[in-house]
Amino acid sequence: MTDTQAAAIPSPAPASDREPLLRVTGLTRHFPIRGGLLRRQTGAVRAVDGIDFTVNAGETLGVVGESGCGKSTMGRLITRLDEPTGGKIEFEGTDITHLGVGAMRPLRRDIQMIFQDPYSSLNPRHTVGTIVGAPFRLQKVATEGGTKKAVQELLELCGLSPEHYNRYPHEFSGGQRQRIGIARALALKPKMVVADEPVSALDVSIQAQVVNLLDDLQRELGLTYLIIAHDLSVVRHVSDRVAVMYLGKIVEIADRDSLYANPMHPYTNALMSAVPVPDPRRRQRAGRERILLKGDVPSPINPPSGCRFRTRCWKAQDVCASQEPPLTALKTGHQVACHFPEQREGND
Ligand SMILES: Nc1ncnc2c1ncn2[C@@H]1O[C@H](COP(=O)(O)OP(=O)(O)O)[C@@H](O)[C@H]1O
Ligand code: SF4
Ligand SMILES: [Mg+2]
Repeated sequence: MTDTQAAAIPSPAPASDREPLLRVTGLTRHFPIRGGLLRRQTGAVRAVDGIDFTVNAGETLGVVGESGCGKSTMGRLITRLDEPTGGKIEFEGTDITHLGVGAMRPLRRDIQMIFQDPYSSLNPRHTVGTIVGAPFRLQKVATEGGTKKAVQELLELCGLSPEHYNRYPHEFSGGQRQRIGIARALALKPKMVVADEPVSALDVSIQAQVVNLLDDLQRELGLTYLIIAHDLSVVRHVSDRVAVMYLGKIVEIADRDSLYANPMHPYTNALMSAVPVPDPRRRQRAGRERILLKGDVPSPINPPSGCRFRTRCWKAQDVCASQEPPLTALKTGHQVACHFPEQREGND
C-alpha cells in the first residue's frame, strides 16, 4: 500500500494503538554443518542471525539485500515453511514460532508465499485449474458455486482469462505464470503474503505489470505484504517501509521516503547507487556518486567480527572490527546499524 491509498483500507484504531499483524523478535536460523564419521556439528551457516521488525496490517514491508543475505530464509521462517533456531514470530499476537503441523493448519490459510521462480513453482503436469484450486482441496474449503467458479474468479482477478482453467503452465509466459502463482496464493484470502523476489525471474518489461497487480490486489483485498527483492527500485513504489539486510542482519529499516531520501548505512548507499537514475541532473542534485560494491557477500559460516559489512566498507575504522553496531533509531521511524552513518545535508 502506498501513502496515497491509505484511505482505502479501513483502520479500526490509530496505528500506534494497534498490535502489528506480524512481530519478529531476535529471529535466527542457523543451518548446522556436520562432519566426520559421527556427523557431529562442526559449525553453522548463520543465514538469519537475530533480526527484529514488525509489519502492520495493510502495509507493505520491502526487504532488500544482495543474494546470500538471508532474505529467502527469513521469508520461509515467517511462513513457517522452515523452523527458526532462535527468536520469536508472533502473528496477530499469537506465538507461532514452533507450532506443529496440526496447529499451523489454520494459519496456513492466513500466511501465504509467492515464490521467485514461476517456472519451477508450478507443477507442469497439473492444469491451471488444479494448481489454483489445490488450496481449496487441501484445506477442505467449500465455496459457493463450487471450486471451479472460485478458481475462474481468481484467474480474472489476477488478469488471466477464466478459459485458462484447463491449460498447462508451459502454455504461458513468465508473467502469466507468476499471475497463476499469485492466484494460488490468494485462493484462501490470506491476511499476509510473503513474496520472495516475485519479479526477479521475469523480463524487465513485465516486472512493473506484476508489481502493479500485487499493489492493486492489496487495495482490493486488504492484504499485508512482505516483498523481498535484491534491487531497491523494485520495492520503491509499493513499500510503506523498507528493511535492508546484510549477512543475516537488518542494517537499516525506515519509512520508504526517509530511506530513499536519506539512506544512512553505507551498504544502503551502495545498493542505492546501483539503481539507475535516468536524469543526470537529478543524480547530481541527489548528491549521489556511484559506489561500486567490491567482492561478494562473505560466508555466513564465519562472518566478519564487529560490523559484518566492514570487509567491503570504505568508511571502516578499528571500532568497526571490534564492536558490532546496534540497530539504533537515529530519526523517528528510521533505524540504522552503523558506527559512522551518513547524514545528508538538510536532514536532521
Ligand atoms: N537449507 C540450507 N542449508 C544450509 N545453508 C543454507 C540453506 N538455505 C540457505 N542457506 C544459506 O544461507 C544463506 C542465506 O541464503 P538465502 O536465505 O537463500 O539468501 P537470499 O535469499 O538473500 O539470497 C546462504 O549462504 C545460503 O547458502
Ligand atoms: S559500522 Fe563501520 S564498517 Fe560497518 S557500515 Fe558503518 S562504517 Fe562501515
Ligand atoms: Mg533468495
